[in-house]
Amino acid sequence: MSKHYPEQSPESVNPEPVELPPEDVYVRPEEIDPTLADPESVAAVVAPQREIQTEEGDALLSAHNLTMRFGGLVALDDVTFDINRGEILGLIGPNGAGKTTCFNALTGVYRPTSGTVMFDGKPLGRLKRHEITRRGIARTFQNIRLFGEMTALENVVVGTDARHKTSVPGAVFRSKRHFREERDAIERGMALLEFVGVEARAVEKARNLSYGEQRRLEIARALATEPKLLCLDEPAAGFNPSEKSALMDLIRKIREDGYTVLLIEHDMRLVMGVTDRIVVLEFGRKIAEGPPKDVRENPAVIAAYLGVPDDAIA
Ligand SMILES: Nc1ncnc2c1ncn2[C@@H]1O[C@H](COP(=O)(O)OP(=O)(O)O)[C@@H](O)[C@H]1O
Ligand SMILES: [Mg+2]
Repeated sequence: MSKHYPEQSPESVNPEPVELPPEDVYVRPEEIDPTLADPESVAAVVAPQREIQTEEGDALLSAHNLTMRFGGLVALDDVTFDINRGEILGLIGPNGAGKTTCFNALTGVYRPTSGTVMFDGKPLGRLKRHEITRRGIARTFQNIRLFGEMTALENVVVGTDARHKTSVPGAVFRSKRHFREERDAIERGMALLEFVGVEARAVEKARNLSYGEQRRLEIARALATEPKLLCLDEPAAGFNPSEKSALMDLIRKIREDGYTVLLIEHDMRLVMGVTDRIVVLEFGRKIAEGPPKDVRENPAVIAAYLGVPDDAIA
């Protein structure tokens, strides 16, 4: 009956309350590069005022002719777009259009078959995931990935740890600096929990948080890495309308705080109210790009969404 249908019902989005990251998705304390003990490189990495090379309104990220093939399947077909500094860019399209693949290509999970990504004035090239995190791109996942046995606060501090200055010996001998950093990380972690609205659950194990709280916690953890670009993959999946609108408020607040946001969503109505610009994918190709009101009236976009249940359309 319908051309595209939601791949996941709310239940299947998150069958288990929490799943552990399979591998090196997040930078763990023991993986911190010892060269980060060098104060100069550290300053570049931890600068709380995120130092960004590009000017306001310039492209923070430019994806150029991105193509991603899986065997015979072309999941991304020659896709070119910019994310301007300070904007909320919506990446929309029916299920299977290539949105998550695009995220994965930008965040180092996949190496694109061809094409380039420039970020903050430099190519992302062949960087590994944790190196891309350090360059300033953070993301959340369509399926929640948290450390279920850790507290909410610990989950956020793990993100902060990626920015720690203390070298491994410093941590082992518990230097003054190490304690100070630990205290700073906890304070910052609490501030982030408050920012996303789950501070009351700080010492609860992540697995015991409600689904909505887990989604917010994931955002706090991504923010803990001090990203220049925050990528959210269907952060409102499985939410009811009032939860969705509260989450859009949070995303606006994040942008007001100076972050640039890339927001994946297949619910068109949801992105209309929050995004500055929208890029539309269908079958791996970019079929439209522009301000929300133009995109909504674009015949190619309307056709792409034909047959999609009403609640996914404006
Ligand atoms: N790792 C993979 N291996 C093979 N095919 C994949 C892989 N990841 C995604 N795909 C395929 O690429 C297409 C786009 O998927 P995806 O990016 O997840 O779409 P969206 O996020 O827009 O729903 C789909 O046909 C999907 O089956
Ligand atoms: Mg997806």
